[in-house]
Amino acid sequence: MSKPHDQALTDIAHAMLVESKGLLAMDESTGTCNRRFASLNIPQTAEARRDWRELLVTTSGLEECISGAILFDETFRQKLCDGRSFVKALEDANIIPGIKVDIGATDLAGHAGEKVTEGLDGLRGRLREYADMGARFAKWRAVIVIGEGLPGRVGIDVNAHALARYAALCQEVGLVPIIEPEVLMDGTHDLGRCLEVSEEVQRSVFRQLHFQGVRLEGAILKPNMVLPGIGCAIQNTPEEIADATVQSLLRTVPPGLPGIAFLSGGQTPELATARLNAMHVRFKSQLPWALTFSFSRALQQSALALWHGEAAKRIHAQESLLHRARCNQAALRGQYSARMEQE
Ligand code: 13P
Repeated sequence: MSKPHDQALTDIAHAMLVESKGLLAMDESTGTCNRRFASLNIPQTAEARRDWRELLVTTSGLEECISGAILFDETFRQKLCDGRSFVKALEDANIIPGIKVDIGATDLAGHAGEKVTEGLDGLRGRLREYADMGARFAKWRAVIVIGEGLPGRVGIDVNAHALARYAALCQEVGLVPIIEPEVLMDGTHDLGRCLEVSEEVQRSVFRQLHFQGVRLEGAILKPNMVLPGIGCAIQNTPEEIADATVQSLLRTVPPGLPGIAFLSGGQTPELATARLNAMHVRFKSQLPWALTFSFSRALQQSALALWHGEAAKRIHAQESLLHRARCNQAALRGQYSARMEQE
């Protein structure tokens, strides 16, 4: 039986996944944003965070490559210099506003090394408020660690359960849930191990989504690419990574889901783009869902280093953001090449 928001959710999801566009994740928590600012000696103030996020959303031409942007609560309530809210500025730019709603990962009691994401208590009320303020979609990130004996069954299943509870609550108020189970790339494990864990995690997530009645047509998956650990001696080619990643998704993600948008997870911006490109070169015609990007670091990193907190560098930083967005757009068409990095 259909529910009140079903068609609206499907429409929002399709607008977010429109051909040749991706999502800009700019929803770093205050702690994460401050750490990135501190490493570049940028003041760690609410005003500096606002200035940075204003720079991002006012980048001219961004809407040609970016369909939606994920905000953090602080930004969601801040205003641009011209007095508009960030939600309004995004709408004016034809970019769909979204909001991160989890409140972070913490240690899972009784299971050393495992993480679980918090934020379900009171979530229904918070989601209603965000929807009333103009959000059209939300995001919740679960963290899965690969290590000695990790992850275990409990770590995988409690995170999948929480993702599905969050997703069901989102759909109840008409927000499209971005469901983000991130298998971290920290560690010395190889590509095969990441493939095995990613498949297991995705299976558990879709089992819970089904079990809890989440409607796939109005949801988006935000997974990790299947990668060797950052400390693994064998770093695979973009083609090998594309094959493993698409294989894991084809085996686990039902075709009823409209789309998948990758996180970048600490890959260099250039590698994240090259790997996404390889997926489209090799598999585009065989994919039942849209396959795009929802990067934070791989879109923002070079721009942030250029900006450095200085108003005079604003335009340079915006050009860098737009360049990365265009490279990723080219990857969605299977047309990215290293030559684009010189342009
Ligand atoms: P990265 O692309 O930097 O991994 O961030 C994506 C994200 O939204 C993390 O939750």
